Amino acid sequence: MEDDTLDSIPTQHQRVLSGMRPTGLLHLGHYHGVLKNWVRLQHQYECFFFVADWHALTTHYEDPSVIGSATWDMVVDWLACGIDPGAATLFVQSRVPEHAELHLLLSMVTPLGWLERVPSFKDQQEKLKDRDLATYGFLGYPLLQSADILAYKAGMVPVGEDQVAHIELTREVARRFNFLYGREVGFEEKAEAAIGKMGKKSARVYRDLRKRYLEQGDQEALARGRALLEDQQNISLGDRERLFGYLEGGGKVILPEPRALLTPASKMPGIDGQKMSKSYDNVIGLRETPESVERKIRTMPTDPARVRRTDPGDPLRCPVWQLHHVYSDDERRAWVDQGCRTAGIGCLECKQPLIESVQVELEPIRKRAEEYVDRPDEVRAIVAEGCDRARDVARETMDDVRKAMGLAPGR
Ligand code: TRP
Ligand code: SF4
Repeated sequence: MEDDTLDSIPTQHQRVLSGMRPTGLLHLGHYHGVLKNWVRLQHQYECFFFVADWHALTTHYEDPSVIGSATWDMVVDWLACGIDPGAATLFVQSRVPEHAELHLLLSMVTPLGWLERVPSFKDQQEKLKDRDLATYGFLGYPLLQSADILAYKAGMVPVGEDQVAHIELTREVARRFNFLYGREVGFEEKAEAAIGKMGKKSARVYRDLRKRYLEQGDQEALARGRALLEDQQNISLGDRERLFGYLEGGGKVILPEPRALLTPASKMPGIDGQKMSKSYDNVIGLRETPESVERKIRTMPTDPARVRRTDPGDPLRCPVWQLHHVYSDDERRAWVDQGCRTAGIGCLECKQPLIESVQVELEPIRKRAEEYVDRPDEVRAIVAEGCDRARDVARETMDDVRKAMGLAPGR
């Protein structure tokens, strides 16, 4: 998004929300792929980051024993990486039951086909064949994610490519919700009455433009209709808002549609050159000891052509080269490229500056993590406060939602 448009966007649309499943100790892939981005966002927007522990249950319901400890490990790693509880709100999904309530209410209006068609539904069932994922909870998991987002009326959701379909679903669900429930009582009558207050000529033009937009999707008519409303001097603010909504055929927006803030795919390779992931057993953990980090990088496979120190190699066939893309500047990369191709440097020599860069990066993270591990009460207090803050926001949304759906208000 261009920064200069921000002023015209309602505050809630500048709210950022994202969640992460508790998978235990985080690694450099998480740091470069997600957390550095979160750290940056927390200073630009109002941010909510949460541990998606219910989401973990949708796939790990048979063995939930690790979820609790993984939750605390993850929060410690977030804090260690620089997520600042003074800038962002950190909380745990299962401690904000409003997510579950909104999930239930949204489930009333969500067609089954929308969920069955989410690509991850079939993909994950295929991939995790050893688990029985033909459950109600697993089918509904993308809708739970929609509830996570809509409970905060978040405008931006930083996610990776694999999650974009879920944000798309969220937009559709929000649109359907607003369509079904976003009309105040007597909305059409009030809108019609407001048209009458515009003066004969403007009223005629408005009706004509509205018809052209609604029947033919004529964008120019929509733009002209909006301009016409801007120019009206003698209608109230409320009427003006009604006429804006009425022009587009909608009512009041209760749940705004979020958009995905696509996180560029992490360039961080695992120590075997594949994507860094716990399931490939190729990670460097954020809290690993310096000795272990050094050993892992020293034993990384290199271009198989370099059997002897005197054999020239090709960086493009070497996973170590990818690490240089993350940690080295142009000058150092030129040194590697030249040295590798001419057998001017050895592989250990090539790896040495990487070992140093990774140590420099991890050292403060490791230290901060240790400090938080030593003060579990502080971590719990941070999360407790975050849960309270999150709940206040989610409760307000639920008041709007209950009212719109004809249920008794919460307070
Ligand atoms: N589904 C996400 C994942 O598996 C985690 C998640 C749950 C999430 N709820 C969310 C991400 C809401 C963004 C917004 O990675
Ligand atoms: Fe890989 Fe570096 Fe060895 Fe070349 S010199 S094969 S880039 S580790």
